[in-house]
Amino acid sequence: MARRRRVYEGKAKVLFEGPEPGTLIQYFKDDATAFNKKKHAIITGKGVLNNRISEYLMLRLGEIGIPTHFIRRLNMREQLVREVEIIPVEVVVRNYAAGSLAERFRIEEGTLLPRSIVEYYYKSDELGDPLVTEEHITAFGWATYSELDEIMNLALRINDFLAGLFIGVGLKLIDFKVEFGRLWEDEEMRIVLADEISPDNCRLWDARTSERYDKDRFRRDLGNVEEGYQEIARRLGILPEAGPRDLKGPETLQ
Ligand code: TMP
Ligand code: ASP
Repeated sequence: MARRRRVYEGKAKVLFEGPEPGTLIQYFKDDATAFNKKKHAIITGKGVLNNRISEYLMLRLGEIGIPTHFIRRLNMREQLVREVEIIPVEVVVRNYAAGSLAERFRIEEGTLLPRSIVEYYYKSDELGDPLVTEEHITAFGWATYSELDEIMNLALRINDFLAGLFIGVGLKLIDFKVEFGRLWEDEEMRIVLADEISPDNCRLWDARTSERYDKDRFRRDLGNVEEGYQEIARRLGILPEAGPRDLKGPETLQ
């Protein structure tokens, strides 16, 4: 088979040219990084789990009318998506204090916030994704006020839906990060949810014990990272049949 053209390689995913114009293939790697690549490891099976979990969540969100870039999953590690122009802003929604917010304001992790808080970070590895405000985003032309309005609305709807979905399976959605893109159809432009939603970019705690099942297991050396991701997939009812040892998936790279 002819080698596909690699369009972009990120820390956890690779994007290849898709079969039709306007489509891309999103390949999920097993690589995990934290603290702006200072920490790196391969977590066997992570890509397969994230592909599956992200597919599931994008489909459920699509069903409630959230526009997404997702078209369909192709195999264990790849999904077909629409090509969008990524807005270089990481949108973080927080329900409970954790991570950088807990540190910044010295709030104990796990404290329920008075209301959900939306934050923006400029997507730049070089700068270490700095926290930015609407002023920076609009002044530097990363997005317009009306796009930001739409992004904020979508982010809050996504949060409400996902928080409900996860609590239904005994998981607290502490916070998460999403990215949006511009999708051009004829002359029309729409903002759609892009990238992925997986335990790499969510914090998910057991509702009863507060055990963490997300990427903090890797960031903080808590061990059993893959098992944490599997637990999330298991609760969502989407753990691949044959179990952990069946998670390697087709090797389409190299
Ligand atoms: P933070 O508390 O470290 O700012 O992270 C907030 C949320 O965003 C958490 O769910 C992890 C996610 N996140 C990413 O997806 N990518 C990143 O680069 C960072 C720093 C956080
Ligand atoms: N994804 C980021 C990195 O690779 C940070 C993180 O998720 O903690 O550095």
